Amino acid sequence: MSLPFRIDPTLVNALRGANFVTALTGAGISAESGIATFRDASEGLWARFDPRELATPSAFARNPKRVWDWYAWRRERVAEAQPNAGHLALAALERRAREFVLVTQNVYGLHQRAGSRNVVELHGNIARVKCSRDGTLVERWEANEDEVPRCPDCGAFLRPDVVWFDEMLAEDALAAADKAARRCDVLLVVGTSAEVYPAAALPDSARASGAVVVEVNPNATALSAAADHVLRGAAGVVLPALLSSLD
Ligand code: OAD
Repeated sequence: MSLPFRIDPTLVNALRGANFVTALTGAGISAESGIATFRDASEGLWARFDPRELATPSAFARNPKRVWDWYAWRRERVAEAQPNAGHLALAALERRAREFVLVTQNVYGLHQRAGSRNVVELHGNIARVKCSRDGTLVERWEANEDEVPRCPDCGAFLRPDVVWFDEMLAEDALAAADKAARRCDVLLVVGTSAEVYPAAALPDSARASGAVVVEVNPNATALSAAADHVLRGAAGVVLPALLSSLD
């Protein structure tokens, strides 16, 4: 079978010789698990839902139930989904790398379910909830169809532990991602439109520090022109092929 993309021997050599590999993933890596991306024209979440009504602190203040229910719906979709060949290939790359960090903008936990260990979650995790007043993580809470659950300590509403628009990323996650981008020899950028900062700045940091930057995406993005290698295809096809090329 001939593949629609070509894996350049210089990329294979760079990966084989790398001491440190970092991967930056976005919603596209989960597309083949049946989870919608954000910006794809018809099926993307932001084509169907208004982020200002669902993913901002002010949306939650205006209508916590609507926001809570939307995340509960997404949590259910994720629970039904399975990691795909792209997630599994990244976990396998981690096992064979000397040092490997997986930085993800995704909040679904599919990388961990696929076996990835060293994962930096830049935008949080949809499975966790926290107090909307002081951010304390709450381990045990009961889903209730009729109302938003409340913090057992202070009675404020609980909210998903994800980063919303108008919010800052967790400092420790951002510092770990930045360090992984600056230290790596190869940065794989998989399934992201590279439009949302600060994640979108990581490929620039990596390149400025001398890393080889590789884009894996079926479509052109804001990053494509600056990438050293562009592998045009679905993550679930390209990443297993990349992994095999190392043998
Ligand atoms: P986007 O929806 O912006 O981009 C998804 C990318 O995945 C696009 O470039 C697609 O071409 C690509 N794609 C689609 N199918 C693919 C496949 N099978 N394999 C590989 N790539 C594929 O999603 P993100 O870049 O992740 O933030 O969006 C970044 C952030 O914007 C998200 O984390 C979210 C959103 O608002 C928050 O919620 C804070």
